[in-house]
Amino acid sequence: MSIINFSQTYQYNFPTTIRFGAGVIKELSAYLKDNNLSSPLIVTDPTVAELPFLKEIVSDLKLARLKPDVFCEISKNPVKSDVLKGGEAYKETKSDCIIGIGGGAALDVSRAVVLRVNHKRDLFDYDDLIGGDKYVTEEVPHFITVPTTSGTGSEVGRSAVISEDESKKKRILFSPKLLAKIVFADPELTMNLPAFVTAATGMDALTHNIEAYLSKGFHPMCDGIALEGIALIGQSIEQATKDATLESRAKMLLASLMGAVAFQKGLGIVHSLSHPLSSLLDTHHGIANAVNLPYGLQYNYDGFEDKFEKMAVAFGLPNGSGDKFIDHIFELNTNLFLPTKLTGLDVKPEHVEPLSDLAVQDFCLPSNPKPATKADFIKIYNSAL
Ligand SMILES: [Fe+2]
Repeated sequence: MSIINFSQTYQYNFPTTIRFGAGVIKELSAYLKDNNLSSPLIVTDPTVAELPFLKEIVSDLKLARLKPDVFCEISKNPVKSDVLKGGEAYKETKSDCIIGIGGGAALDVSRAVVLRVNHKRDLFDYDDLIGGDKYVTEEVPHFITVPTTSGTGSEVGRSAVISEDESKKKRILFSPKLLAKIVFADPELTMNLPAFVTAATGMDALTHNIEAYLSKGFHPMCDGIALEGIALIGQSIEQATKDATLESRAKMLLASLMGAVAFQKGLGIVHSLSHPLSSLLDTHHGIANAVNLPYGLQYNYDGFEDKFEKMAVAFGLPNGSGDKFIDHIFELNTNLFLPTKLTGLDVKPEHVEPLSDLAVQDFCLPSNPKPATKADFIKIYNSAL
C-alpha cells in the first residue's frame, strides 16, 4: 500500500463536456448553430465514411443548412502525411470547426489536424517527448468528438499518436488545447460493431480502468471512476460481445470514456508489454492488452492484495475473491473467444528479447506500481508464450 503525503500538492483535471445517451448525435446541428459554427470538417476513416450513420449525420447537418465536408484519407495506423492532408482540407473547404468521428485512429488524426491548422512548424516539432508542447501557443479550431467504438477513450484525450511515414516510429502530440470542447457519446453508433471488435476494444477499456486504478500516485477521483468503469465492464462485456443490447453497448461506451478519464493518473506494465507487440508485429492494441493483462497483473499482485480485492468485487465477484481476479480475466478472454497465450498472436521465442528491449523503455512503465527490469519482461513474456 502506498503512503500518501498530504503535504504535497496535486492536479486533477475533468474538463470535457460529455453528452451521453441513445440519440444524442441528433443534437449536433443545434450545438453547432448555438456556437455560431456553420462549416464543420468531419474527420473520419474510410470505413466509417461509408457507413449509413455517417451519411445520416452529414445529411442531417445539410438539412439544418450547415455545410459539412468529410475528410477520410487516413491510414489504419495514422501517419504524418494524413495529418498534413487533413490540414489542407480544412483550409480548402474553409471549415470553421472539426468533428472527429470514429475509433482511436480517426480521433487521433482529427486531434492532430486541430493542432495543424494554426501551428505551422514541422508537425513533429510538437512531439511531447521532446518538449514540443511548449510550441502549442496558437488558437485551435473548435473541436468535437464522436466515438464509434468502446475502447481507446480517445474522445476525451488530449494527445494524438501519429507515426512517421517512413520509419513508422510513433510520435505523441500533446496539449490540453487539444481536448474536445464536447463529446457526443451515442451508444446507437456502436450497435453494429462486430463481436470481435467489441471484445478486443472492450478489453483495452478494461485494461485502462485496471491499470489506472493500480497506477502510482494519489488520485482518489480517478480511482473511483476506474472502479466504476471496471464494474460497468463486468456487467456488460460478455453480453455486448455475444448478444448486443443497447444497455450493454451503452455501458461499454461509458466505461471506455471512464477508463480514458481515469488514466490521466497513469497506466502500467500491461501497456508496456503490449506496445512493443504493435510496433514489432503489428498486433491489434486491444488484443495485445487482452492477452497480456492477466500476466501483467500476476507481476503486480504481491503487495497490492487490497486493490485486487476491490477490483474483484467491482467486477462482480464475491467478497474475498481478490486472489481469484486474475483467473477470472483468463476465463473472460476464453469466453470472449480471445487468445490467452502470446503464441495465439504469432509471438515466437526469438521475439522475446527485442520485445523486452522496447518494453523496458515504454512510457507507461514509470507509473506502474512496481518497477520492472528487462529480465522481468523476459520472464513475463516467456510465461505468456
Ligand atoms: Fe490502451
